[in-house]
Amino acid sequence: MTTPRENGQTPVDSEEEILVETRELSKHFPGPRPGLMRRRAILRAVEKVNLRIRRGEVLGLVGESGCGKSTLGQTILNLYTPTSGQIFFEGEDIQELRMGELRSLRRKMQIVFQDPYSSLDPRMPIGQAIAEPLVIHKMASGSELEDRVSELLQTVGLNPGLRNRYPHEFSGGQQQRIALARALAVTPSFLVADEPISSMDVSIQGQLINLLEKLRRQMGLTYLFISHDLRMVRHIADRVAVMYLGRIVEIADCDELFDNALHPYTQALLSAVPITDPTAARTRKRIRLEGDVPSPIDLPAGCVFQSRCPLVQPECANEEPELRQMGDGHRAACIMV
Ligand SMILES: Nc1ncnc2c1ncn2[C@@H]1O[C@H](COP(=O)(O)OP(=O)(O)OP(=O)(O)O)[C@@H](O)[C@H]1O
Ligand SMILES: [Mg+2]
Repeated sequence: MTTPRENGQTPVDSEEEILVETRELSKHFPGPRPGLMRRRAILRAVEKVNLRIRRGEVLGLVGESGCGKSTLGQTILNLYTPTSGQIFFEGEDIQELRMGELRSLRRKMQIVFQDPYSSLDPRMPIGQAIAEPLVIHKMASGSELEDRVSELLQTVGLNPGLRNRYPHEFSGGQQQRIALARALAVTPSFLVADEPISSMDVSIQGQLINLLEKLRRQMGLTYLFISHDLRMVRHIADRVAVMYLGRIVEIADCDELFDNALHPYTQALLSAVPITDPTAARTRKRIRLEGDVPSPIDLPAGCVFQSRCPLVQPECANEEPELRQMGDGHRAACIMV
């Protein structure tokens, strides 16, 4: 077996331990039903993604709606079967694991979604919902199980006395804490947080971010933090990856990405973020992105961003730019930078 460090990609990660790695990971869906006698098109939701997530870090994943963030998160967790490519967790190719090994791996990788209510069973008291994964994975029973549920409720800042209540009796922010407690029950090391806070109001968002940060420190969790909200990502992430039409187009340390974005798509995304400093706001160049993200079906050859790019050149239609090293750990996929 080759370890993730041996594949000779970028040297920057060499001293750090890689928890999750994807190699050329793709997830395609069948496109809409075509007319008679025509081939069904392919929707390339995730296309050849190479990503390395270091143990203990928060990797932010940003990009407009429909660019493939959730599909990538769920494919990494093997909730979707990859169309091609590999996923390594702790150095092991997860598609080569046997059933039993896969089950124990499932325990280590958890996800929380944007809408907590839809991920909780409305007819199940919350204590039982949190206990369920512990029972399934045979991790606790009897009074130990009860204690563990109380402990988990306390960890996410809820009163254990509320364990017999039902999900609808809680606010959205509390439901998200319950979903988090359920995910944490099986002591995962990797958590995909898919827009976990975007449906909450601002003060609740802040509290949940603080909770996620506390959990990271206390439990050594590693996060893939998916969000539209670039300010929130700046607050919590160590590194940020920018996705466009299924591809990672730029990745860098958080401050580096926000202060020195190289890809025109990242620059456009950032220029849409309101900034509070009035001088910075006046001097900033605004780049307006025209139109919506094109359909991921039948994309033209070359760079996927060419149809909306302010810097587009004729060469951009020739071949797809590679994610190239531009500085210390900073990579971007654009021939113009
Ligand atoms: N189960 C599915 N079957 C078919 N197509 C899908 C499926 N899931 C996602 N897609 C398509 O894949 C593309 C990527 O979708 P995805 O939900 O991953 O984007 P996203 O970046 O998470 O968007 P959002 O920010 O709105 O959550 C979209 O074109 C979407 O329509
Ligand atoms: Mg999504």
